[in-house]
Amino acid sequence: MIPDDLTAAFLRHVCQTSPQPLGIVVARAAGTKIWDTAGREYLDLLAGMGVANVGHAHPAVVRAIAAQIDAYLHVAVYGEMVQRPQVELARRLSDVTPKGLSVVYFTNSGTEAVEGALKTARKFTGRSGLVAFAGAFHGDTYGALSVGGNRLYQEPFAPLLPGVRLLPFDDPSALTRIDESVAAVIVEPIQGEGGVRIPADGFLPALRRRCSEVGALLIADEVITGFGRTGALFACTHWQVVPDILVLAKALGGGMPLGAFVGRPEIMATLSRDPPLAHVTTFGGHPVSCAAGLAALDVLLRENLTERAARLGHEWLGQLQPLTGGPLRVVRGKGLLLALDFEAPEATRRFVARCFDRGLILNWTLHRDTVVRLAPPLTITPDEIAHATTIMREALRSAKS
Ligand SMILES: Cc1ncc(COP(=O)(O)O)c(C=O)c1O
Repeated sequence: MIPDDLTAAFLRHVCQTSPQPLGIVVARAAGTKIWDTAGREYLDLLAGMGVANVGHAHPAVVRAIAAQIDAYLHVAVYGEMVQRPQVELARRLSDVTPKGLSVVYFTNSGTEAVEGALKTARKFTGRSGLVAFAGAFHGDTYGALSVGGNRLYQEPFAPLLPGVRLLPFDDPSALTRIDESVAAVIVEPIQGEGGVRIPADGFLPALRRRCSEVGALLIADEVITGFGRTGALFACTHWQVVPDILVLAKALGGGMPLGAFVGRPEIMATLSRDPPLAHVTTFGGHPVSCAAGLAALDVLLRENLTERAARLGHEWLGQLQPLTGGPLRVVRGKGLLLALDFEAPEATRRFVARCFDRGLILNWTLHRDTVVRLAPPLTITPDEIAHATTIMREALRSAKS
């Protein structure tokens, strides 16, 4: 099919989720770049939506995938056979995640990992209450949607899971509403789709204390913030907070579909009994995804990409700061998760369109149409950052008009 036919078939046969898809006809992707079939180059400032932390198609990841394909693909449902890539990745995750989190349940996606974490918390505590935060995004399956923080996206699909209490994010005074009926509190250490909201320093430690006081499990959803994105391997460690369950996905698979929830042994053991096989998956922890994830984690650590994200993110914020004042009200961020906060949706849309015309892939966050997120591969170079900043500066000038 020629590209125009392909686009027509995309629009007709691939279920559309928005009225204006980006529509790039992808030919190739590598590192920080994506090329279309006309040879046009784009700088991907979204890293495939938080996935390509080590860059698109990193050669080490591609080699690991090829080697695993040569050995075996799917062999059995989850948890029945000893598959080296799965075991090795679980062991590595247990080494690098906060202390005590040593048992991993692999899934195919972030939303499935959230489902697993919520179910585990209910079964382990014998309680049903769930607490989540306004502005949160945890995925689109029913459990994850039920703990989402935006009614607009919930109402068309009601009724949702009962027993969910929504608290304001970053408000320690609201934490007294977490009581002994609560099985789990789920939180993004930094809200992503809610507009890159970074809590004040005391919030997450206060949340940790409150959960411990009432015996509720703390679930940290690091699907977007994990794997170096914010300048720490996991964002909760910025505040020395150790969750009871850590939810991972996106960059975990190095470009392959993979999610996980990681917990202490006594919590995770609840899934093996009463009854056994009550929470299973066919493809979760697919050996090819785990091989890719293992290679990506090696690259991330070997190339010090977490430290690089902290340094480059800080420098970039400094370069973006002088652009505020007109339609751009505020810039903020941690590591390479940055936000450009605009005064109005129209100015945001004009800015994004102008940047896209000049080859930058970026967008506003799902729940905040005035916040543009910058979350490039952590391998982005200072020159690429300078190039993107120049385009953004020019786009801002024309966004005013
Ligand atoms: C914080 C957070 N949690 C969960 C999810 C859901 O992950 P997935 O799209 O892999 O189901 C997302 C997706 O954007 C996310 O940002």
